[in-house]
Amino acid sequence: MERKLAIVGLGYVGLPLALTYALDAFQVSGVDIDPRRIESIKSSSLGMREDFDSVPVNDVLRTCLANGSLNVTSRFDELPKDVATFIITVGIPIDHAWTLDMSMLTSACAELGKLLKKGDLVICRSTVPVGTTRGLVLSTLERASGLVAGTDFDLAYSSERIAEGHAYDEFRNMPLVVGGINGRSLDRATQVLGAVNREPIFKASSIELVEAAKMFENAQRDVNIAIADQMARFANYFGIPTWELIEACNTHSRVKILMPGIGVGGHCIPYASPYLFGSLTNQAECAELLPTFVSARRANAAQPDYIAERMSRRMGGLEGKHVLFIGIAMKDYSDDVTVSPAVDLARALAKAGADVHVLDSVAEAPREFGREMDIDTGCLWADAVVLPIRQGNVDYERVKKLVIAAAGRVILFDFRGVFEHDADVLQQLWYVRL
Ligand SMILES: NC(=O)c1ccc[n+]([C@@H]2O[C@H](COP(=O)([O-])OP(=O)(O)OC[C@H]3O[C@@H](n4cnc5c(N)ncnc54)[C@H](O)[C@@H]3O)[C@@H](O)[C@H]2O)c1
Repeated sequence: MERKLAIVGLGYVGLPLALTYALDAFQVSGVDIDPRRIESIKSSSLGMREDFDSVPVNDVLRTCLANGSLNVTSRFDELPKDVATFIITVGIPIDHAWTLDMSMLTSACAELGKLLKKGDLVICRSTVPVGTTRGLVLSTLERASGLVAGTDFDLAYSSERIAEGHAYDEFRNMPLVVGGINGRSLDRATQVLGAVNREPIFKASSIELVEAAKMFENAQRDVNIAIADQMARFANYFGIPTWELIEACNTHSRVKILMPGIGVGGHCIPYASPYLFGSLTNQAECAELLPTFVSARRANAAQPDYIAERMSRRMGGLEGKHVLFIGIAMKDYSDDVTVSPAVDLARALAKAGADVHVLDSVAEAPREFGREMDIDTGCLWADAVVLPIRQGNVDYERVKKLVIAAAGRVILFDFRGVFEHDADVLQQLWYVRL
């Protein structure tokens, strides 16, 4: 196998994947249509929190760019002409009505198709509705290239399963599933994936099975999170501590209840069920085939509003109240604010009249929230301190001290159980948890 490939889309998946291959003696080219993204890659100034065996992403990037194992461009026509393997990692955004925007994937395939040659291999690794690879991807590539899939070029699908912040480890150690439009596509893709992945690769009987498996892997987590959040509501109703309730349930060896939170963040889990729904033709089919997934998704999407309402009740209304968020990322220890329920919660509070400030030294908060305070001045200013996620670089002991010093003037909303085992705070009236 030639150790040369190109990656289309250099986001949270594509860029670390490119570096993983580059570190494994591949000659990697990357293309991303966002010139700012290419600029920050070229200047090794990414805000991404990935490391490669403890070496930070920007250091690895600097090395790979300097030794030529990675080249990046915002133009497809600048990709080297002798590359025969292409991996697609562009996303499919959805809106609040769960409508899928296929335009990025379509345009990536149309641009890539113009470069395709006989004998090339395309592996799609984006998360897609069932039927997308054999439908949209294949037909767009064929139309743009004038070639025939399965005869002139090969096409495979393998879902991406990494979690942000763990990409390098998981590209190498997370088992993979792959499907191809024919046996040759399947074998070639398995070889390319296996060049960096050390685990056995599951060769599926069809591409559609792999597409469906990816969505159900994530959608079942969506359902499980809805279960945890609803357990928390029930526990609150009876004054039972949620964390202890879940810990008690999980002592059963066949039970694994997740931890509750203020909602579900990121692309992967919140988008999985809408991709499942988008694989079907209408709402009646969704209601008939996937009612649990529909109701879990609705509940999870509404969770930030539910939490805002609970906070409002606890604070005697939100109008004019000062609320300090410590952490705004889409999940614990992330630098990413994409589809962040913390942002949704902050917006719901602001809409109800609260003045919201955000402290997060890792993830960048949307501009609408004030940010100029530090923890000390923030805790003096605030009527409520919110811990929506756990975040790195936060001195939680200091937060605790400041809230205790505020002697009941400040309410601490601890939505991730940061102080769950802290006897000093658990029984305090100013301490609220899920
Ligand atoms: N982020 C994760 O942890 C994760 C994990 C598993 C699977 N996935 C899936 O992987 C895919 C990529 O996710 P991501 O988080 O990297 O998304 P992302 O938004 O961070 O990256 C996508 C990149 O593609 C670029 N792009 C858009 N249109 C393009 C085009 N026509 N040509 C070239 N580049 C184009 C964008 O500029 C962007 O940089 C998605 O399908 C996602 O669901 C993501």
